[in-house]
Amino acid sequence: MAGKVRIGVLASGSGTNLQSIIDRCEDGRIDGQVVIVISDKADAGALDRARKHGIRAVHFEVPKTGTDGWLAADQTITQELQAAEVGLVCLAGYMRMVGPQMLAAFKGRAMNIHPALLPAFKGTHGQRDALEYGAKVAGATIHFADAEFDHGPIIIQVAVPVREDDTPDALGARILKQEHEIYAQAIQWFAEGRLKIEGRRVRVEGEATAGRLSMEAS
Ligand code: GRF
Repeated sequence: MAGKVRIGVLASGSGTNLQSIIDRCEDGRIDGQVVIVISDKADAGALDRARKHGIRAVHFEVPKTGTDGWLAADQTITQELQAAEVGLVCLAGYMRMVGPQMLAAFKGRAMNIHPALLPAFKGTHGQRDALEYGAKVAGATIHFADAEFDHGPIIIQVAVPVREDDTPDALGARILKQEHEIYAQAIQWFAEGRLKIEGRRVRVEGEATAGRLSMEAS
């Protein structure tokens, strides 16, 4: 066992993924500790959730991607993560492109969650896009972050069947539940030192497969 991993979370929204990670760290299902939460939104629910648990919660304005301001924010965020001695960065509903400094400092140590089965339905509305496209199976993906949106090596995926009467909200809620499960699994594998990146492929030592059928009752 590699010991408890110190986790830094970047989030823009309500933070249910963050909450699930905090809860599982607290009850021992994840060998980790969330030590800092950073948001580009001052009013992000994720910041409130962090504060409730005594976790350092910081907000930074993140200017338009590619600008000097964005690079400066990247530097500040990287410094915050390093000062908190973070071992793993989890992007959890973080709606901004992360910068080159952060990616370099945390190469192979930054993960993202996307609510679709990548490489399908990248972007902000993965759940809705899958439904509108007529996909019969939706899902979620945890992957290592890289310099492109929703792109880096895939760690784990879960399938979520689309129902005939589905709405974007209903499907999104079922996917979100599964996101919480697979994010916890990916972090725990990381904490155990079992993730090996080989090009685009991630090998999970000791696992025959890291693709999950939905765990929801059907
Ligand atoms: C999740 O669906 C995540 O996959 C997406 O944004 C949503 C964030 O949810 N990128 P939350 O803030 O963790 O509740």
